[in-house]
Order: sequence, then structure tokens, then C-alpha cells
Amino acid sequence: MALAPVVPCTGCIFLLFQWLLLALTMAETHREISLGSSLSTNDNHNMFWESHSGEFAFGFQQVGKGGFLLAIWFNNIPEKTIVWSANGNTLAKQGSKLELTNNGLLVLKTPEGKQMWVSQGVAGSGSKVAHAAMLDTGNFVLADQNSINLWESFGEPTDTLLPLQTLSQGKKLVARYSDTNFSKGRFQLMLQPSGTLEFYTTTFPLDAANYVYWSSKPVSGFQLVFNQSGSIYLQAKNGEILSVLSSKPCTTQDFYQRVILEYDGVFRHYVYPKNDGPETIGWSKEWTHCSPSIPSNICTSIREDTGGGACGFNSYCSLENEQRPTCNCPNGYSFIDQNDVMKGCQPNFEAQSCDQESEDEENFNFNIMENTDWPLSDYEHFQFVDENWCRKACLGDCFCAVAIFRNGECWKKKTPLSNGKFDPNDEGKALIKVRIDNSTSDHPHKKNDSILVVIASLLFGSPVFLINVLVLIPTLVVLLHLYRKAKVSKQTQFMPGMNLQSFTYAELEEATSGFKEELGRGAFAIVFKGVLPLDDGNLVAVKKLDNIVREGEQEFKAEVNAIGRTNHKNLVQLIGFCNEEQHRLLVYEFMSNGSLANFLFGSSSRPSWYQRKQIALGIARGLFYLHEECSNQIIHCDIKPHNVLLDDFFTARIADFGLAKLLKTEQTRTMTALRGTKGYVAPEWFRNLPVSVKVDVYSYGIMLLEIICCRKNFEQEIEEDQMVLADWAYDCYRDDQLSLLLKNDHEAMSDMGKVEKYVMVAIWCIQEDPSLRPTMKKVTQMLEGTVEVSIPPDPYSFISSL
Ligand SMILES: *[C@@H]1O[C@H](CO)[C@@H](O)[C@H](O)[C@H]1NC(C)=O
Ligand SMILES: *[C@@H]1O[C@H](CO)[C@@H](O)[C@H](O)[C@H]1NC(C)=O
Ligand SMILES: *[C@@H]1O[C@H](CO)[C@@H](O)[C@H](O)[C@H]1NC(C)=O
Repeated sequence: MALAPVVPCTGCIFLLFQWLLLALTMAETHREISLGSSLSTNDNHNMFWESHSGEFAFGFQQVGKGGFLLAIWFNNIPEKTIVWSANGNTLAKQGSKLELTNNGLLVLKTPEGKQMWVSQGVAGSGSKVAHAAMLDTGNFVLADQNSINLWESFGEPTDTLLPLQTLSQGKKLVARYSDTNFSKGRFQLMLQPSGTLEFYTTTFPLDAANYVYWSSKPVSGFQLVFNQSGSIYLQAKNGEILSVLSSKPCTTQDFYQRVILEYDGVFRHYVYPKNDGPETIGWSKEWTHCSPSIPSNICTSIREDTGGGACGFNSYCSLENEQRPTCNCPNGYSFIDQNDVMKGCQPNFEAQSCDQESEDEENFNFNIMENTDWPLSDYEHFQFVDENWCRKACLGDCFCAVAIFRNGECWKKKTPLSNGKFDPNDEGKALIKVRIDNSTSDHPHKKNDSILVVIASLLFGSPVFLINVLVLIPTLVVLLHLYRKAKVSKQTQFMPGMNLQSFTYAELEEATSGFKEELGRGAFAIVFKGVLPLDDGNLVAVKKLDNIVREGEQEFKAEVNAIGRTNHKNLVQLIGFCNEEQHRLLVYEFMSNGSLANFLFGSSSRPSWYQRKQIALGIARGLFYLHEECSNQIIHCDIKPHNVLLDDFFTARIADFGLAKLLKTEQTRTMTALRGTKGYVAPEWFRNLPVSVKVDVYSYGIMLLEIICCRKNFEQEIEEDQMVLADWAYDCYRDDQLSLLLKNDHEAMSDMGKVEKYVMVAIWCIQEDPSLRPTMKKVTQMLEGTVEVSIPPDPYSFISSL
């Protein structure tokens, strides 16, 4: 404990007089610190001077590992809350000293004896500093013989005011940089020489005012007062109270109080009960009950032309616990420095290149954030548009980082984004453009990176069934062997040669809570929703294959084998499998937006043309990959909207490939034959012609028409010539009446060129003669526009020529 040096009694009468004075007026009680005294960071017993009551102390406080702050703090509460500091910008090193010099100055010196800080502006006219004192009010003073203060810390505030302290015109509070960094921050509060009280952001690191986010206008006062009973107000020269900023129903007798311009720019009034019960509650957090913070929502108060806003660049501000502003990064971005969030956020991906050759807008997608906006970061504004127009405009523009869509208006925003805020009253939504992660290693389910490919299955490599059967036998032998090995341990493990997890039945039973939530049902399988405990609770779809079906085993192995090694953004990813006794299960990524069938036909409102085009293109790319790009050619054989799923971003993802040949086509064929209608199944199935990738092209063509028209290929309750979409579409195309297909789809109608192109591509795909149908590669190119689409013939010309 550092006690002030005892001042020799210079006269009993004087002393008595002083005592009387103190007792009568309740005036400041203090211990005088005589000239020549000093404090040192090296001397634990001489680091600070306490006030008489012990409530405040002045001296060195160690802050972090960084060094020492010459400060004033609340000294008899557990948190030694700092209310004033001299050297926040440059901490003092171990070995530094504070001296109260014989000529009455406070001087902070480095261990080398260099002056770091000195008490400026000691009033010098006539009288001399006789002593210093730490008063019980929290004011540290240099006083003359008559106890007139010549210098006081109350006159040089940092970021805090205490009861009885006033702020006069021209004086300011400067927020610290962060909660624990006392260096000058980005916010200031000043009682202007005009008398207006203003809170403003600065042109950090300079001090100039940048944006005033709160002002007392039109009220202007002579001083800002924090009075004894805890009211904070602007006062006129004649003492009149002009405007009360905050008032507490609590007095300094029961509470410690302080008001601080905090590092987040908010001016807050805190109280702390002096007589704590058994539990220390600390500085009140429910201060809002007594008085509003100023401003009440800083996130929405700052809208500056230059500078980042309440938070840093590319981040956004939202009011969270206790109404405190919190800085966050938008989805797809992360903090540049976790320990200094005000530095802002950076994208987690490589920005879009403006070089059209090397960049494809398909590589980007949007994260949606409701009620979020970055005002003043826009460079283009459009009206009377819909969301998909807005999306498209931003995707196709390499400058566009974020688009805001609100009530038919679209704003394109550029980086660095500023003034970001989450505001529940803002009805708009932010579309954050992010690069789609196409790398395998970052796949959330693929944390294990065993990429060895041992099994080279040619199962679906040949267009002819017979060859498949010949290849099937040795493949199954290999697979069986591998499965036996995989079953040795009960633990979850990885199938050798594939990047797949092997699950026990019990694990999947648990993951699906006993196969509780059914997602869908096919002829040979039921799909359940599940959660994998290992992968941070990732949702999965667990497909339980029917064990009664004899071909089940083959189907299972075929699918595991074929799918296990595919990887494309338009395919549903297989994560793992279970092959235990009679149980056969497959574990897939969970697709949050259901099937394309449901998307197209499920709801009363028509999905946007823009999204439909994206989906059509995505499926084409996925099929192209299955047919030509993956290591073993895969013919899906069951392309239909039920087998296309949509992920979080409504990206089309082809599901259920690899098993169709063995089983499902039988079923589809029967169904189609029963109905006697044109289904998704290519005609060659019925004609004993060799089955090739072109069967998928046919199915794709039918589905493409469904996507364009948002209706099923076969509908009964309509005019006969429209019942079969494929036929009607060709008729409309031939008669140059494509708009009939679109009903009231204004969005598509305004894009007739594309509609026509898509219909032409579809007609090419559904040619009866497989050899006339384009490859999926060509389909993709035609849809993308890199290859011209020629006029398609009548799909039935082949039959008629037979
Ligand atoms: C406090 O913040 C300032 C500004 O970023 C920085 O220069 C300084 O190093 C920080 N001080 C400490 C002790 O971290
Ligand atoms: C402090 O100011 C309030 C006005 O907000 C007033 O009611 C109160 O009496 C003042 N207290 C003292 C001790 O002057
Ligand atoms: C991911 O996309 C980038 C950009 O289009 C491309 O260069 C890269 O080859 C792709 N990676 C994979 C694994 O597909």
C-alpha cells in the first residue's frame, strides 16, 4: 500500500480549522502529497497514491503485457476501473517513474530519464503548487498553499466523467481504441466552443471530426455537468439546466458512478453499488433502465461518406446483448484480425475476375442476409426490377460484391463496404456474392482426404448391358473383399480406396433417431433425415435400401462404387454407406430445398425464370460430367425432376445416379407403358436398341421443357392438344407461338430469345433418333451460348421414316 508521505503539522489551529471545515462542508478530504514525491513501476509498494477514503487511486496500472498506464481508477472495487489516463497512446515501460517536481509539475519519465508526459497548463499566475492530492471525488489535483487547484485531472478528461466533474466548452472526451487498449480510438465527444455537444467519428488516426452522429442541437450550453446525484446535463452560464442527457435515481452515497464514451462510440452511464452483498454484481449492465445510452442504436446512427461506419469496412453492426453493438462479418467473409474487429472483414474467396475468359459467373452464388444493408456503398441503382433480375445483374458484374434488393429496387454495392448494419426495420435483403467452393478438400463432409482410388469399375462404362454383366462379376468380388475388411472394426471407418465413410447400422439408426423423419420414398428405398454427430451436426439424407429386393446388393454396390468417386457441384455427394448383414444404407449430403419436382410443380407461385435457367444449366453440366468427365462414364437412366435436388443456394444437384440401370427403369417403363404417354424414358428402351448416354439426353429434353413451362410433361385436365407437353411445345415452336407455353410468365416473356433457344435445345434432345440428339456437352454449350442452335427437325420424323 502506498501511503502519502505524512505532511508535518505546521500549525494546530490550521489543522483544526481544516478538520472543522471538512466536517462542516463535507468538502474534499485528502492526503497531501508533497513536492519531490515520486512513484515507480519498479516498486510494488510505491506504485500509486490513494485518496483518503481509498475509493480512488492515482499512479501506475499495468495493462496487459504492454506496459504501464499512468491513471486514476476506482480502487476499492474488484475491477480497478480506469477513469483517467495520461499515456494511453504510449505505455510506460517497466522502470518508468512519476515525479512531482519541486517546481510543481507532474512528470512521467522513461527508465532512461526521458520525459514522456507532463502536466500541462498548470495555472501559474502568482501562486505556486504546494502539494498534490488524490481527492475522494476521483479528481487528482495540484494545489497551492490555499488549496486552490492549479491543475486537476477533472480538467483534462480522457474518456470518462465522474460525478462533480464538468466538461467546459472546447473540451472533449476521446474514446479508447478497444476495451483494453487505451490508445486513442475512433470516436470523440466535444462540447464545441459554440456550446453544442457533439459526438462524432474521427478521420482516424487523425483527430478531425468526420461524421457527427449525435448533437445537442439546437440546445447549446455553457458546460456539461455530471452532478452529485448522478444527473448529466447541459447547463447555461446562469446555472439553468438546459437538457438532461441522463439521470439516475441513485445517489453517489449508495453508488459509484461514471459516464464514459466507450470504444464503440456509445456514451454510457454506469453505476456500481457501494455496499455489495455477498455477490458482486459489478458495474450495472441494466443501465438502460435508468437512462438511455447515447445514441440508442449506434449501428443505425452512423452513415458516413468516408470511413467504415460504426464497425470496420466490409463488416456490419448489430445490437446484441444488452443493446451493445457488435461487429460481425457477412457470411463468406471473416475478420482480418480476430483481436481487432474494427480492422474489418475480408472475403474468404478470390474475388471475381473481370476477365470473361477466365471467369464464369456460375462460379458465384449468393448468401442471403435479411435486414442487412451497407448504405452509401452503392454504385448502381435500378428500379422496377425483381429479385432475380437483381441477382443476375450482380452475378454478371465483376464489380458487384453485394446486391441489395428491396421492394422492386436493386442496388449494386462495391467493396470495401461501409456503414454496414443489421436493422430489423430494414425490409431489404442483402445478397452477398460468394465464390462457390468447388474444391474437394473444403467439402464439409470430406474431412478425411484419402483419395486413393483402388477399384476401377467399368460397371457402367459400356453402353451395352451384356458387357456390364461380364464386368460385374469381378468387380463384385473385389468389392466383397473390401467390404469384409471394412466390417472388421465396429468403429466408423473409411472404405479403402474411396473417400467414403463406413457406418454401422447402429450409428445410422442413432443419426436418424430411429429412422424417424422420412424425406422421400422410392420403389426400392426410403430416405430419412439424419444428423451426423461427428461432423458438427451436419444434416444428411440416409437412404435405406429395401432389403427384400434381391438385386439390392448389386444396386448398393453399384451405387457406392459409381458415386463414391464422382465430385461435381451439380451432383449430390455421397458421404458414406452401411453394409451390415441385411442392411444397406447410403448417406448423402442433405439438400435443404427439396426436389426440382416440388420446386416446379409444388407451389402455386411460379419459380423465377432466372432460377429455372440456372437449374437447367446446372443439370446439363452435371450430366455432361457423368457422361464425359468423370473417370467412369455413368448413364443415369432415370433423369426426372424428382431425381434432381436443390441445395441451400438452389443449385441443381443430380441424385440417384448409378442404380437406375439395375432396377428403376423397369418400374419407370412399366408406369409409362401403363399410361401410354410419353414419359422421361427414351423410346429406344422399348425397341431393344442399345442404350447409350443419349437416353439421358432424351430425359433431359423432356425435363427442360417442364422447367421452361413449369408444368408436367403429361397433364390430363387440359385440352387434348396440350396434354403432352413435348408435342405441344413442338407445335408452338413450329407455329411460332412460343408465348403460349409461358402463360403469364412475364419474366420469361421478356427473355423470349432465351426461351426460344431453350425450347430448340429441348426439341433436339427429344429426337426419336438417338443419333440426332446432341451430347450433353453440346447441350451445355448451346445453353451457355457458346454454340449456335440450329433449327431442330420434328422429333417424330424418325418414326415416320421407319
Ligand atoms: C492499441 O491500438 C493501436 C491502434 O491500432 C495499436 O497501434 C497499438 O499497438 C495497440 N496497443 C496495444 C497495447 O495493443
Ligand atoms: C442534479 O440535477 C438534477 C436535475 O437533473 C436535480 O434534480 C438534482 O437536484 C441535482 N442534484 C444536485 C445535488 O444538485
Ligand atoms: C474450381 O474453379 C476454378 C475457377 O473456375 C477452377 O480454375 C478450378 O479448376 C476448379 N477446381 C475444381 C476442383 O473443379
